[in-house]
Amino acid sequence: MTYPRKHLLAIEGLEPPHIADLLDLAESYALLNRSGKTQRDLLKGRTLINLFFEDSTRTRTSFELAGKRLGADVINMSVSTSSVNKGETLLDTASTLNAMHCDLLVVRHGQSGAPSLLSQKVDAAVINAGDGTHEHPTQALLDALTIRRHKGRLEGLVVAICGDIAHSRVARSNVHLLTTMGSRVRVVGPPTLIPAEASRLGVEVFHDMKAGLAGADVVMMLRLQRERMSGGLVPSAREFFRFYGLDAEKLAHAKPDSIVMHPGPMNRGVEIDSAIADHPTRSVIGEQVEMGVACRMAVLDVLAHGLRRNV
Ligand code: ASP
Ligand code: CP
Repeated sequence: MTYPRKHLLAIEGLEPPHIADLLDLAESYALLNRSGKTQRDLLKGRTLINLFFEDSTRTRTSFELAGKRLGADVINMSVSTSSVNKGETLLDTASTLNAMHCDLLVVRHGQSGAPSLLSQKVDAAVINAGDGTHEHPTQALLDALTIRRHKGRLEGLVVAICGDIAHSRVARSNVHLLTTMGSRVRVVGPPTLIPAEASRLGVEVFHDMKAGLAGADVVMMLRLQRERMSGGLVPSAREFFRFYGLDAEKLAHAKPDSIVMHPGPMNRGVEIDSAIADHPTRSVIGEQVEMGVACRMAVLDVLAHGLRRNV
């Protein structure tokens, strides 16, 4: 295993062997999870704290499950009932947790760069569980694992990432991972939701869904991140769905065996039609969630090797 760092803060900067090794390890955890042999003691005596300043269903639960399956003591800190409400800063909160000798700190925060800042202040290994519009590295890993399981590879695949690219950390992490692994990435959306620097990231930009989906192997839909938008960047939900929502008619332009992905949470009838989200053969949205547990186990596993030996 070649993972070179103490923390996992971003996909940007990881090289193909690091990513491939993480995916191979995650694949082995996926098989173990399916076989029911889930309990390990790799993190016995270690403490993992989930510190989520933004809402989460999948990421927080799967880090909890992954930590417990590897034998860690897992604490979900409830930020909404914590002393953050009494004015304690992010850094003071982190040094408080540091003083309790937490080993692994999983952080989600609305500000891009917050996990990186914390990683400089605490002894724990820090994992970015989504920071502002910057990155969501474990989401990109679980997406890549899901794609690889269906297509057998990442190299050479045409992947269309559609919708609100500008505010999506999922898009950013996926663009870094997939271009590093040799996929041909397209971003598809209205001009107001495509960041100016998109073409510098090695992706093709499309404003028309039919053209952007033509011949795609993978169609990845994104939620409109209204909580990060200032002002009216999109008309109405109904209008957005008409032009950019994935329905059977638009999906017909992708390859007949293409898969449909969504990181969740979905807004049905806005970026995706229910019939596509629930499609029995094309939609792999449930499998993405399953692979999330396996990928987070793999990440905790590789970071465990760099932890202080004080237990
Ligand atoms: N759950 C993902 C994130 O936190 C995607 C989303 O919320 O739309 O970035
Ligand atoms: N995909 C994702 O990060 O989901 P949550 O926001 O529910 O964690």
